[in-house]
Amino acid sequence: MRKAFLGMLVFLAVGLIWLVSCTTTTKTTGAAVEVRTPAAAEAAGKPKLAEEAAPAAEEVARAEEVPPEKVLFEGEIKPLSPVECARCHYPIYKILKDQGGKHRQVCTNCHEVYHRYNPLRKNWKAIMPKCNKCHGLPHGKAAKECLSCHQEPHSPRRIELASVSGKCALCHKDESETLKTHESAHQDVGCEGCHSDRHGRVPECFECHDEGHIPGQTVKECLSCHNPHMPKDIKSFEGLEVDNRVCGSCHDTEFERLASTTTKHGKQACVFCHNRHGFKPKCEGCHGKPHSAALHKKFPQCLRCHLDPHSLRRPKVSEVQIQGK
Ligand code: HEC
Ligand code: HEC
Ligand code: HEC
Ligand code: HEC
Ligand code: HEC
Ligand code: HEC
Ligand code: HEC
Ligand code: HEC
Ligand code: HEC
Ligand code: HEC
Ligand code: HEC
Ligand code: HEC
Repeated sequence: MRKAFLGMLVFLAVGLIWLVSCTTTTKTTGAAVEVRTPAAAEAAGKPKLAEEAAPAAEEVARAEEVPPEKVLFEGEIKPLSPVECARCHYPIYKILKDQGGKHRQVCTNCHEVYHRYNPLRKNWKAIMPKCNKCHGLPHGKAAKECLSCHQEPHSPRRIELASVSGKCALCHKDESETLKTHESAHQDVGCEGCHSDRHGRVPECFECHDEGHIPGQTVKECLSCHNPHMPKDIKSFEGLEVDNRVCGSCHDTEFERLASTTTKHGKQACVFCHNRHGFKPKCEGCHGKPHSAALHKKFPQCLRCHLDPHSLRRPKVSEVQIQGK
């Protein structure tokens, strides 16, 4: 009884499949014929030309001859999109998606051939994309083995520090020269002493220095005066806003004098007059010669009377040794 029932089901299923396939094939061929007939072209408002009509008629004949299973091999084949490749290569797709940067492209841009690997032919290298096809040799001839540093081509910016260790000068000539040619304690620290952990990491000064010259100084400020690759060559102060206490942390005498004077110099920043480190300006640079020509001729040194630029203290009579009188 059950056997008979199952048999019925199978018969019905086969029948149904046959029916469906029949209707679809008719539809497909039918559609193909419809567009191609001269009648249809005419209906669409196209002029009926003899040349056009003839091939169309031929095609109709051909299409009618084509057995239904051949139609399976007709139609445009589109390359797989990354999402389609991802159905099988999800991990690679995910790396590209998250860290691919500018390599987030159609896979077949790079993989012009794929699924051709055959261990017997040992052809892995031959079928894999070549970086220099698109990039040439961006770091010069000394860095030819791209994958030795760019170990994951689907995440091209990720570089293990170990793979560039000791090779900094290859690509960073300026920084390497600077450090090498300017004597400082940072020479002993070395590139990787500061740029540690990963390639391109920039350290904060406070990783090694407890504090700046005054509390609350920021790294940005440190860098406005110090180039880390030549820390002893202080940059120009031109255009910088520097708290007088910074200079005062080393030049306490000048700082105290300037801080306590009631003259107009007391309102100036150290860097207003000293626009680079160690530079000592001339009074005349700002003031010219404000007194009578006779006085300046007699006393060419302003500080003879004004004593100190930071206090502009008025001299006691005993201090002004008026010579030649
Ligand atoms: C910018 C170029 C580029 C793009 C885009 C790219 N690949 Fe690759 N892919 C490579 C290179 C180069 C290799 C060779 C690595 C090697 O030789 O070890 C590779 C290797 C592979 C491998 C074999 C090695 C492995 O890690 O399993 C697969 C699979 C692969 N890619 C799949 C994909 C898929 C899928 C996509 C798109 C979602 C894609 N690739 C996009 C350049 C690319
Ligand atoms: C239906 C699953 C499937 C799809 C879709 C697929 N692959 Fe693969 N692919 C595989 C399998 C399986 C391997 C072999 C095992 C492996 O390496 O993971 C392979 C290997 C590869 C390899 C390395 C070996 C070789 O012969 O090239 C590359 C490169 C590759 N696929 C790229 C692609 C790209 C690009 C796409 C999309 C255009 C894609 N695959 C789509 C299943 C697939
Ligand atoms: C089919 C061409 C092609 C291949 C092969 C290729 N790349 Fe690229 N790559 C590109 C393009 C295009 C860019 C984007 C360039 C741009 O916008 O400046 C790029 C960008 C990069 C970047 C910068 C990425 C970013 O996000 O800024 C690196 C690094 C890189 N490629 C390394 C490699 C390496 C290493 C290989 C071999 C493993 C390789 N590329 C293979 C086309 C390619
Ligand atoms: C010695 C290690 C090393 C080798 C070998 C190497 N690279 Fe690089 N490459 C790097 C590093 C490090 C970067 C900088 C990555 C970053 O931090 O953005 C880089 C960056 C790039 C960039 C981006 C350029 C830019 O200015 O942003 C491209 C493109 C690139 N490499 C391609 C290649 C190609 C192609 C090869 C092989 C011919 C190659 N690299 C070999 C270490 C290397
Ligand atoms: C093969 C070439 C190459 C080598 C070797 C290399 N770098 Fe780079 N590096 C680059 C490129 C290219 C960039 C620029 C990436 C960019 O524009 O973002 C870079 C960027 C940097 C940056 C700046 C990051 C930023 O945020 O501005 C530092 C710091 C750096 N590298 C330090 C080093 C040190 C230290 C070494 C040696 C341990 C080294 N690099 C080795 C190519 C290289
Ligand atoms: C004492 C720590 C220290 C040492 C040693 C050091 N650096 Fe730097 N480096 C820095 C700091 C801090 C910066 C950030 C400078 C800035 O932003 O003005 C930097 C910036 C860089 C940059 C990026 C430059 C730019 O214009 O963006 C590169 C490249 C670099 N260093 C390479 C090197 C190399 C190569 C060496 C070894 C020869 C080295 N550094 C030694 C601390 C150091
Ligand atoms: C990885 C550790 C490290 C980092 C980061 C570092 N330094 Fe240094 N620096 C040292 C060492 C070690 C010395 C020598 C001992 C000392 O003076 O503390 C030194 C000395 C100096 C000196 C005196 C140089 C000399 O030859 O006497 C200056 C200036 C200096 N550092 C400024 C900076 C600035 C500014 C930064 C941040 C941009 C910085 N350092 C980041 C380790 C570091
Ligand atoms: C306004 C400029 C300026 C700023 C900002 C500045 N420095 Fe300096 N720094 C100097 C000068 C000038 C010297 C003395 C140079 C000399 O001895 O010729 C110096 C010396 C140093 C020294 C050598 C040791 C010492 O005390 O004599 C270290 C270390 C140092 N600075 C670290 C830093 C750090 C860290 C920062 C940020 C927190 C910083 N500096 C910010 C100007 C500055
Ligand atoms: C970390 C200590 C330190 C800091 C901070 C510092 N200096 Fe100096 N300064 C020195 C040293 C050391 C000298 C060298 C003394 C010498 O050559 O006799 C010097 C020299 C000078 C000289 C030349 C002195 C002479 O007799 O020729 C002037 C001017 C000067 N500094 C101004 C400044 C100013 C302005 C600032 C703040 C922007 C500043 N300094 C910050 C340590 C410092
Ligand atoms: C109004 C301008 C002016 C200001 C503001 C000023 N200075 Fe001076 N400073 C001078 C002049 C001018 C000299 C040179 C004096 C001379 O020729 O002997 C000088 C000399 C110095 C010297 C060298 C002292 C010596 O014995 O030769 C130091 C150090 C100094 N200044 C530090 C400072 C500091 C620190 C500040 C801020 C607290 C500061 N100055 C603010 C004008 C100024
Ligand atoms: C970088 C420019 C600069 C330099 C260098 C400079 N001064 Fe001045 N000085 C000023 C300024 C600005 C004032 C205030 C002017 C005002 O507010 O009218 C001033 C004011 C004065 C005053 C009047 C003070 C008061 O309270 O009325 C005297 C005196 C003076 N300077 C003397 C000197 C002498 C002496 C020197 C050299 C040792 C000198 N200055 C160097 C910029 C400078
Ligand atoms: C013989 C002593 C003497 C000499 C030398 C001298 N001064 Fe004076 N200067 C004075 C006296 C006194 C005053 C008025 C009192 C005061 O303001 O301190 C004065 C005032 C000034 C003032 C303020 C003027 C005003 O109008 O507010 C400036 C600026 C000044 N001197 C700059 C200079 C300069 C620059 C030199 C050198 C080129 C110089 N002095 C040389 C004695 C002198």
